[in-house]
Amino acid sequence: MNEFKQRRDRFMEQMDDNSIAVFFAGEELQKSEDEAYPFAVNHNFYYLTGLTKAGMSLVMTKFNGITSDRMFILPYDELMAKWVGGRLKADEVQRIAEVAMVNEASEMDDFIANVYNRSRSYGGLKVYLDLWYYSSKQQLTPAILFAKKIKELYVNVTIIDSYPLLTDMRLIKSESEIAKISKAIDITRSGVYAMMKNVRHGMNEMVMEGIFAFALCQRGCRENAFPTIAASGKRATVLHYADNDQIMEDGELFLCDLGATYDHYCADISRTFPVSGKFTDRQKEIYNVVLAAQKLVENNARPGISIRDLNQMVIDFYQEELPKIGLMKDVREYYFHGIGHQLGLDVHDVDHTGQNPLKPGMVITNEPGLYIADEGIGIRIENDLLITEEGCIDLAKDIVREVEDIENLMKKK
Ligand code: GLY
Ligand code: MN
Ligand code: MN
Repeated sequence: MNEFKQRRDRFMEQMDDNSIAVFFAGEELQKSEDEAYPFAVNHNFYYLTGLTKAGMSLVMTKFNGITSDRMFILPYDELMAKWVGGRLKADEVQRIAEVAMVNEASEMDDFIANVYNRSRSYGGLKVYLDLWYYSSKQQLTPAILFAKKIKELYVNVTIIDSYPLLTDMRLIKSESEIAKISKAIDITRSGVYAMMKNVRHGMNEMVMEGIFAFALCQRGCRENAFPTIAASGKRATVLHYADNDQIMEDGELFLCDLGATYDHYCADISRTFPVSGKFTDRQKEIYNVVLAAQKLVENNARPGISIRDLNQMVIDFYQEELPKIGLMKDVREYYFHGIGHQLGLDVHDVDHTGQNPLKPGMVITNEPGLYIADEGIGIRIENDLLITEEGCIDLAKDIVREVEDIENLMKKK
């Protein structure tokens, strides 16, 4: 039994009786007459099926304690296959997802009518849906459109958000998920080293972004976990600087925040290094405070503590240390983000509260920074930690971060 089927079985175990759960892969968004935006599959759908193509729906059912699952897919289209490649056929869907049944999408409405009628003898139907909706500017998701449609047809159905069930599952990474995140981090290491070895003053930041992308492709990875941040000098004090289009000057620090994906799992890494290959004394002084904060977090990250607690630890540490290096303003003027977040299929993975106690199997980021606009210095160092029974393992420990190691690596350029 593959991992996707195991996950569905676990999900169905937790569903209320006389219920169904529906997950949608999502639809391609058209950009212009003959071009669509790159398609990104819904991550909960992927987590439960292993499938990545648009237009598919997963339906899980539970009646009288008996569970079953099926996929609804679009029919194979020979003409489409000639132009842009074929859709998956039923047998391929069955092989990847190991679902009990595969039906055509056109059969789904009648299937839902059928389960609704069955449920009436048991007091009505509950429907689990992924009700994620982030902003009024986005399009309505297939799950929301589906909820509206069935509410109109079957007014007494109860809609339940599947988010809490899925969050609990996705938060704890399996061995194979940890291996994928580790691989994504290792691919990211190749890209960061290529940047460190090739940086030159006078170069545009976007060339650094390109060097990273090229190094990823050399390792078979085309998909970044998120848009690369490549910021030199003062631009590095803007947290999510995305322009990446300015010239890097000698004497500046360069900050990159980036990640590869491996089989849909993300790395999230930041490194800061001198454009010249050598830190100034002042840059080194500030850098080493950030590095000490990062080590403080990895020494304290363990089950029971929360990301919020770890963040407070860093704030307290900075409060002690910053005045010693002449940074006299409030700490939050120099460090205005949080210490980290969950990492997985999403860069900012499920559970964004930061308040819950960490558990073994979670992967979180550890990303202290200091941003000093007056001095044109922005520093962030970001590693990814696997929480274990005893504490944590730094999955990014092989990407150099000590001043001396960075300078040595950059000498080889
Ligand atoms: N790359 C965005 C972040 O570090 O959270
Ligand atoms: Mn990052
Ligand atoms: Mn991060």
